[in-house]
Amino acid sequence: METLTKPTNATDKDFLPLNGTDYIEFYVGNAKQASYFYRSAFGFSALAYAGPETGVRDRASYVLRQNKITLVLTTPLHPGNEISQHIEKHGDGVKVLALMVDDAYKSFDETTKRGATAYLQPKTLKDDNGEVRMSGIQLYGDTVHLFIERKNYKGIFLPGYKAWTSTFETKSVGLKHVDHCVGNVGWGEMNTWVDFYEKVMGFRNILSFDDKDISTEYSALMSKVMSNGNGYVKFPINEPAEGKKKSQIEEYLEFYHSQGVQHIAMATDNIIETVTELRKRGVEFLSVPDSYYEELTARVGSIDEEIQILKKLNILVDRDDEGYLLQLFSKPVEDRPTLFFEIIQRKGAQSFGKGNFKALFESIEREQELRGNL
Ligand code: FE2
Repeated sequence: METLTKPTNATDKDFLPLNGTDYIEFYVGNAKQASYFYRSAFGFSALAYAGPETGVRDRASYVLRQNKITLVLTTPLHPGNEISQHIEKHGDGVKVLALMVDDAYKSFDETTKRGATAYLQPKTLKDDNGEVRMSGIQLYGDTVHLFIERKNYKGIFLPGYKAWTSTFETKSVGLKHVDHCVGNVGWGEMNTWVDFYEKVMGFRNILSFDDKDISTEYSALMSKVMSNGNGYVKFPINEPAEGKKKSQIEEYLEFYHSQGVQHIAMATDNIIETVTELRKRGVEFLSVPDSYYEELTARVGSIDEEIQILKKLNILVDRDDEGYLLQLFSKPVEDRPTLFFEIIQRKGAQSFGKGNFKALFESIEREQELRGNL
């Protein structure tokens, strides 16, 4: 059953006010090459760099930006450290979901006193451009949340990073901001993480889907959407459910070897232009059968976009009480069937595309079957 509760603006009561997603950091096997992929395929620009040339001895980090989305790609320079162990176990994946806060020390105190496990004790980083205060707590699997306070900093990214200019210039594909980041958790773990977001971080469960909403002939999953007070930050959580065959969440857990981030949804103001460009640059997306588009108008009513163009690009549409949304999902962006991206354009709708779940999951299952994992 679907239930939707809207976020409120009760930030005065919010013990963990968040101003949005600061950055997302991936641990990857080869950050130099991954950064080329995110620039050439997804339209990010080179922003900052830290590594041996800046006095960092154990890693290299490349910072990319497109409008309000900042990605950090970090690779280890030696075996045996936290980063290389992370990659050995998980493959390339998301390590850090960094959140913008007004007070990183207070954010740490408020969350750890409510039961969060510390990951990074509060600290202050300084350089000629000012200071950044940061702290961090553990999340599901090996994933973490960092709290970043940068109101007294004018530098390019963080102290320790230098500006990175590249002769390879890329053009934005129109990705604007992070809409939501979804985590996959293990069997029976859903409530643990719903409780974590409610009690430790002051979030609310604004939307729930059970296995009756999200099931195909073969497999099923459950999902709950957690939102902070002002609705700037949303973290849906998925748990596998019993089905005839292995669900996509189980496949993820098997190949990521733990709980972790399943997908990052990035918003655009013009999904047709964005997806046309992404496809031209080689980004691979899931496809849905032509029959999806035959039933579309009956299901969602009239929309501004031409159905033939949506069909050609395999863009999905769903409607809720407030409007509609357009979305589509990439195939996994690494060889393990783990992390993928969602491209989303909201035209009023604040939900997550429930009407597309069936078509979408059947598409995912076709891919799973090709991998021998269904
Ligand atoms: Fe999503």
